Amino acid sequence: MDQLTGYSAGISILEITYIIASVLFIFGLKMLSHPLTARRGNILAAIGMTAAIVATIIWHEKDGKPIGNIGWIIAAIVIGTIIGWIIAKKVRMTAMPQLVSFFNGMGGAAAALISMMEFPHVSPELIAAQGMSNGHVLAILLGLVIGTVSWAGSMIAYGKLDGWIGDLRIKWMKYVNLSILAFIVAFVVFIMTRDVTSTTGLTPFIYILFGVAVVYGVLFVMPIGGADMPVVISLLNSFTGVAAAMGGFLYNNQAMLTGGILVGSAGTILTILMCRAMNRSLLNVIVGVFGGSSSAAASETGTVREITLSDAAVLLSYSRKVVIVPGYGLAVAQAQHICHELDKLLEEKGVEVKYAIHPVAGRMPGHMNVLLAEADVPYEQLVESDEINPDLPNTDVLVVIGANDVVNPAAEDDPSSPIYGMPIVKARDAKNVIVMKRGMGKGYAAIENMLFFNEKTRMLFGDAKSTLQNLVNEVKNL
Ligand code: TAP
Repeated sequence: MDQLTGYSAGISILEITYIIASVLFIFGLKMLSHPLTARRGNILAAIGMTAAIVATIIWHEKDGKPIGNIGWIIAAIVIGTIIGWIIAKKVRMTAMPQLVSFFNGMGGAAAALISMMEFPHVSPELIAAQGMSNGHVLAILLGLVIGTVSWAGSMIAYGKLDGWIGDLRIKWMKYVNLSILAFIVAFVVFIMTRDVTSTTGLTPFIYILFGVAVVYGVLFVMPIGGADMPVVISLLNSFTGVAAAMGGFLYNNQAMLTGGILVGSAGTILTILMCRAMNRSLLNVIVGVFGGSSSAAASETGTVREITLSDAAVLLSYSRKVVIVPGYGLAVAQAQHICHELDKLLEEKGVEVKYAIHPVAGRMPGHMNVLLAEADVPYEQLVESDEINPDLPNTDVLVVIGANDVVNPAAEDDPSSPIYGMPIVKARDAKNVIVMKRGMGKGYAAIENMLFFNEKTRMLFGDAKSTLQNLVNEVKNL
């Protein structure tokens, strides 16, 4: 536990740098809340993190001497940076959520490793030298549990989003999960009631705790699926933040503490907002296995009506108000640029075009905002779904591009549906609906969508990018 020993010379520069880094984190986070400033916010926070790392390497001291293992530390930073850079550069836009989950899991693993390394070193001498209390030992244990759950859970979420792990929904699983959680709490209390002034003899306990936390992390995420995945991802994010904050507390490191608390609190707020957007309670997401089955809503369908490209072009060009609902398929097709070209063409013809943004459209929070910002769609054109819904009866044409679950009326009509209760874009309220998708494929929640059989709906089948390209050509030729 060398790192725990006190600072001497350089303390003020180090601490000032940590405070500056913390301020940069806070401003960076604030700027992330708006698409126009998000990129700069990210850079600002990265500068803060770089400053904190460099200052630690230069000015942090143990026993009056500079920190050791500089070679190892720099090698680890270089290797990690290269791997992270390559992965982030290569990742497809549609695989972003998996990447976020993976990186988040790495944060949890790092926090858990810190705890595993530090726990066996607690001794009466160190406690005397550091003025440590039982609170520090508790921080180590909590960092281990929360970091491990975050790591194991994020890896399962990664597998699920990538499609190679399916949902495991067994009714009694929530009781198993609650029992494991109760065991973890009881076991932490048990360890804390031992003599924690010298932990060497207690080391096997933390391996048990680690093992149980891995099992909990896996089983906790396995049953969560369908529309609830975004909620669990942001919850795991907040877990990683809390676990990192435990490390900051342990090392008396303000930058680590602030960074962890910011991630923890921002993740918690996002989780709550997502729950509200999905009309679900957090408890229901965590312990409630979905009520309906995938096939529940698929019993009755109807007739599908198609529209030709030229008819669609005429309908759109002679409309007054058009609302576009982008979804996951738009990201898959990478059709955002051509979509923007269509909306500009229509606006030149005097049509008012807005985008209805559903909070969980796509596969990650803010997915549609990021996608459309990439194509330079003005931010003013993007309207939250619950804000645009009241205006849909006055909308001449609503164009669904690669969206499915977020416009599925089963969320309002079918109590047995897995998405029942989730707010949707009320597409069927518009005067006409055009749906662009490749075929009759289902969405993420794997359920039938009665909107496609609605008498107002016309299907325009094909890959979103080529369909939009052809549509743009038709509109130009009018
Ligand atoms: P989805 O319900 O997933 O539907 C996407 C649709 O796009 C599919 O039905 C598919 O139909 C179509 N599609 C796929 N590739 C296409 C292409 N190249 N061109 C045209 N269409 C294409 O999408 P959504 O409405 O955006 O809903 C998102 C879902 O994901 C929700 O259930 C949400 O809870 C879940 N989820 C969201 C997040 C976050 S945070 N946003 C994270 C994880 C999960 P075809 O196969 O017939 O083309």
